[in-house]
Amino acid sequence: MKVAQRIQNIPPYLFAEIDKKKEEAIKNGVDIIDLGIGDPDQPTPCNVIEKLNESVKDPKTHNYPPYQGTAEFRQAVSLWYKNRFNVELDPNQEVMALIGSKEGIAHIFLAFIDPGDISLIPDPGYPVYKTATLFANGFPYTMPLLEENNYLPDLEEVDKEIAQKAKLMFINYPNNPTAAVAHKDFFERVVKFAKKYDILICHDFAYSEMTFDGYKTSSFLEVEGAKDVGIEFHSLSKTYNMTGWRLGFAVGNKEAISALSIIKTNIDSGVFKAIQQAGVEALTGPQDNIEKMNQIYSRRRNIVINELNQLGWNLKPTKATFYIWIPTLKGMSSIDFANFLLEKSGIIVTPGIGYGEFGEGFVRIALTVEEKRVEEAIDRIKKSGINQE
Ligand SMILES: Cc1ncc(COP(=O)(O)O)c(C=O)c1O
Repeated sequence: MKVAQRIQNIPPYLFAEIDKKKEEAIKNGVDIIDLGIGDPDQPTPCNVIEKLNESVKDPKTHNYPPYQGTAEFRQAVSLWYKNRFNVELDPNQEVMALIGSKEGIAHIFLAFIDPGDISLIPDPGYPVYKTATLFANGFPYTMPLLEENNYLPDLEEVDKEIAQKAKLMFINYPNNPTAAVAHKDFFERVVKFAKKYDILICHDFAYSEMTFDGYKTSSFLEVEGAKDVGIEFHSLSKTYNMTGWRLGFAVGNKEAISALSIIKTNIDSGVFKAIQQAGVEALTGPQDNIEKMNQIYSRRRNIVINELNQLGWNLKPTKATFYIWIPTLKGMSSIDFANFLLEKSGIIVTPGIGYGEFGEGFVRIALTVEEKRVEEAIDRIKKSGINQE
């Protein structure tokens, strides 16, 4: 049996060693605190669960759903965008339901990348941008996200010849893994760049609502001309604690949405209608759970940032996402530092190298455990004698 080259092209799984050590530690009775996984620890809001309960009993939800998403779901997305960002979306042509945003993100590459084509992707970045380019037999060209540029790609630095050949660019703000945010002036530069080089812009907006201290995000589509060149991927996963439900959507440029739908109609058969009905409830029902979650995450964030800064780090309060991007101890690689934290303190973090070469020198923690466990993690770090000074 010979697997396809595209499988062999996928980089080795970098977290394998840490996974093995984690399993060993658990076997040895270590009380592991896992700050590695970006998965909300709180439940889906009750109104959404109740809606699913009701919808699942209705036999009309049991057959194949429409490929694009139900009319009600697309209408709800359009309304949510209008209320939240003042962006008008035609629910018939500019909105598409996804089986979680990851599904749409992976498939958009098949819609735009031919063998040998170039994608422009952030480094560090959500790993799917790179692997999906490789699955389409394309070349990922990485745009470094550097601290001195506030983790925004420097578009001037993109090689002109590469830009001319590129078909698609991914950006992602609020950003995983750096927690950086982007403002409209950056999006304006991206639109200009896209028009100059005729590139599709894909904005991954999975963390749009997870923001702190009064900060609110802007949609890429708020910028003039953005809809001519781009689409935005959104997810109910983090906004409504619905990671397991698999529901997201793509909005924006209708040619891009239509190209994505051609791939999807040949690969999947849409999202279970009962889940879409629950999604309508999430988008149109009470939104107070979002603020409640953001309060919880910001309290956890404060503990980590204040305490690590006492140990010699110089972390600024993050404005968004439940991630904190932390420089490793001086001279330590991200894998070594992650191993060190696991061995000395029983804490799992994600090595930055897993997000690309420019992630080296950092680890990512996810604030997805109870405040008490965050405090416990910090206590253990203090006891291990770590100091960044
Ligand atoms: C940046 C980013 N985009 C997309 C996703 C995918 O989310 P989902 O497929 O659950 O919508 C994630 C999940 O962690 C993410 O971090």
